[in-house]
Amino acid sequence: MCGIVGYIGSRQAPEICINGLRQLQYRGYDLIGLATVQDGQVHVRTATGKPEAMDQLLTSEPLTGTLGIGHSTWSDQGKASAQDAHPHLSSNHRIAVALSGTVENHQELRENLTAAGCEFRSQSAGEVVAQLVQTHYEGDLRAAVCRAMEQMQGRFALAAMAADSPDELVAARRFLPLVVGIGQGEQYIATDMYSIRDETDRVYVLGDDEVALLTAEGIELTDLQMKPVQREPFVIPQPAAADPKDKGDHRHYMHKEIYEQPDVIRNCLAGRLTSPDLPIQLDGLNMTEQDIRDVRQIIFSACGTANHAGMVGGYLMEKLARISCVFELAAELPSRDPVVLPGSMCVGISQSGETNDTLMALRDLKSKGARVISVLNAEDSTIARESDGVLYIHAGKEIGVASTKAYTLQVLTLSMMALHFAEVRGTADPELIRSLKKELLLTPAVIQQLLSREDEVKAVAQKHYDKPDAFFLGRGVNMASAMEGSLKLKETSYIHSEGYSAGEVRHGPVALLQPSMFVVAIAAQGEVYDMMVANLGGLKGRSAPIIAMATDGDTQVPTAGVDPAADASDPTSQPNDMIWLPPTHEFVSPIAATIPLQLLAYHMADMKGEGIDQPRHLTKTVMPE
Ligand code: AGP
Repeated sequence: MCGIVGYIGSRQAPEICINGLRQLQYRGYDLIGLATVQDGQVHVRTATGKPEAMDQLLTSEPLTGTLGIGHSTWSDQGKASAQDAHPHLSSNHRIAVALSGTVENHQELRENLTAAGCEFRSQSAGEVVAQLVQTHYEGDLRAAVCRAMEQMQGRFALAAMAADSPDELVAARRFLPLVVGIGQGEQYIATDMYSIRDETDRVYVLGDDEVALLTAEGIELTDLQMKPVQREPFVIPQPAAADPKDKGDHRHYMHKEIYEQPDVIRNCLAGRLTSPDLPIQLDGLNMTEQDIRDVRQIIFSACGTANHAGMVGGYLMEKLARISCVFELAAELPSRDPVVLPGSMCVGISQSGETNDTLMALRDLKSKGARVISVLNAEDSTIARESDGVLYIHAGKEIGVASTKAYTLQVLTLSMMALHFAEVRGTADPELIRSLKKELLLTPAVIQQLLSREDEVKAVAQKHYDKPDAFFLGRGVNMASAMEGSLKLKETSYIHSEGYSAGEVRHGPVALLQPSMFVVAIAAQGEVYDMMVANLGGLKGRSAPIIAMATDGDTQVPTAGVDPAADASDPTSQPNDMIWLPPTHEFVSPIAATIPLQLLAYHMADMKGEGIDQPRHLTKTVMPE
């Protein structure tokens, strides 16, 4: 998702737009562009790099105007080239458009426009949209955008201006976020409301296929037929006391966000789970006790890290609330056309609330009759708007592309949900529910303890970070933890890694084990402990060094599978490298196990000299290709 900031008023638009785009720079954009309307012309400046590159360009090629649009994005054609940057101009240079998202039929539109005599300068869909708006423009910019939108398919947000409408700015969206900011004698456009928070805290959140006409004096909202739309302004919440973009003493956002976990867990628990003796309150669910008793099946659907959180949540829900749970990778769900049984509910999990695959999966399930509950971090997202109930995790802004604190809070929220369902349905021993609540209330302290052991994790990382391959293994509820640990490692350190069930790994992948790789095995106390110890014995015999995670005081795991008779150069003869976990109930152990796994990935990546916060080829929110 790209960043758009637009301005109309009496101040200089370039400055306001660049300041807004600067707020989005943590996303790692490498292309930036600005356009203004001045003296009857559209003027454009584009640059590769960060907003500072634009500052520099403007010193040699100044840009002025009180009506302007700024845009920043990642280059998607390999090497960044200023020619690909938005805003794009129509062929007669009278219209400028900044586009975020995807116009699925842009090739077809391009061909039609080319056949009608239009010449394009770039391969960008933004240029196609600018041209489309131009073909419909007869002095009314809003009408031209509406007509263009009717021909466009996909998920996008856009801002447009015209040399011949110098007092107007137009914004429109379909499925991607866009707000218009309300000022006094000036107005704004933003794809991320926080990028204009320094200018105004009142915005209109545009709905799908809605268009905003901005003049210095005011804002009019309409649908594509230009029928007025009434909407209450939304007040942008105050940012957290500490600026989320301030890294403090940490070198990377990932490290900072790992360390924020005790605090954000307290935020997430607040008002929901306050005492082991009180029922859990999950107001956002929007479900009566009868609704909860009527649920027959839960489909968990999400992507990446959020999917792993869903696996933990589903495991607990099935164990505690005795509801049949299925897991569907969101990216695969719509094409599988799953059967949704009566009484089904689906749980979508997403940090951003905008991940396209997750949104499409939830829409598919909703259209088949499932109640949609989402577990989200970002507020006012598309998924939130389309859900029947939303549980916010309250992680605050997560800037590191590798998700850390959001994962832990997703697991915590889903754990509370499983306990709540079990309480209402009367499916679990009240004493077990009480002790699990007590343990969840203690998780901030457990995490603090784990963070104080960071040096031990770092020492283990030091021993193995230069190996090219890894396996992360777990069983039961910690199979998902192993998969999450593996994902964290691969996306930050670029070490090839696989997350597997320690049982399933014996059905083939074990053939890969050799001394040049390492295995991380989660063997915390619990139902699957004995099986894990047995698996460790088998794995050790394959000569791959093992990093074992076990509960404080465990005496079996450090030497599980060690062969004292083996040659000293053979890893089989060496005790396992240990990462120790404070004792927790097995159902709470995924939260504890995650902290050292995050730190292991972080330190291995750091030791390899990787950038960590903005891994190659990754974006914080994955939109359509
Ligand atoms: C996590 O570290 C990832 N980079 C990624 O897997 C992410 O969790 C996934 O894309 C889902 O994002 P969402 O939570 O914003 O929907």
